[in-house]
Amino acid sequence: MSTLQEIKPVPVALGGARGGPRARTLRPGGWGTEKWVTFSVLTAFVVYSTWAAFQNGNFYVGAGQHRDLISPFYSPCLTQTCTQGGGGGLTLHWWTLSPALLILIVPGGFRLTCYYYRKAYYRSFWQSPPACAVADGHDRYTGETRFPLVLQNLHRYFWYLALIFNVILTVDAVVSFRLPGDGGIGASVGSLVLTANAVLLWMYSLSCHYCRHACGGHVDQFSKHPVRHRLWTLVTPLNARHMQLAWASLIMVALADGYVRLVASGVFTDPKIF
Ligand code: FES
Repeated sequence: MSTLQEIKPVPVALGGARGGPRARTLRPGGWGTEKWVTFSVLTAFVVYSTWAAFQNGNFYVGAGQHRDLISPFYSPCLTQTCTQGGGGGLTLHWWTLSPALLILIVPGGFRLTCYYYRKAYYRSFWQSPPACAVADGHDRYTGETRFPLVLQNLHRYFWYLALIFNVILTVDAVVSFRLPGDGGIGASVGSLVLTANAVLLWMYSLSCHYCRHACGGHVDQFSKHPVRHRLWTLVTPLNARHMQLAWASLIMVALADGYVRLVASGVFTDPKIF
């Protein structure tokens, strides 16, 4: 192992090398575990969500099973192919592929540009750097100053769009407590799954670093902005849990799609609670 004296400070400069000679680190072993766990879970999610997005079927459970459940990957209904799930007013007749391919642009872009996920996939996929205090896996470091990474600056706009999707998925969760056909009210495991999904997506969005900035950024004196200070104090504890909420909401949205998909395809019946 290298000693502290052998490690010379290496300046970080755009366009230059970062972190000195490769694989040089004073960190003891074990720091690579998190990287591989991140790599595995993100890869599994991307594979599953891509597969689900191309299915273009089994995304809605309707009156046939006396339930009103729609997969979050296919909501809002945008195309003619998903009118069975409602949303006819938004139908895009010219789109003939799976509607999820359109819908997932917003949540996908939101997560792809998320500050936490950037750290996660820069480390686990791109090795830049593999971990704190570990030399970069590449000879040159260009930061996020040019295409395509300069597009990461779109994150704040994706945040606003993601809030719209959160409202839509919250409506889906509320509607799942309505029993199609007789207009009654009821709950099932599926309605709880969609509710948990909506709650986690709100918590993830409200814990966003941009959200915290939007609430309390560019304020010199909180005493002159009590409302913004209040909002900032509300989202700051969530912001401290942003990584956990990012993972929980990611896994939950895949589980919600999987649950609706299994019920819609007849693998099992959505258990009724009342
Ligand atoms: S920083 Fe992660 S969602 Fe905004």
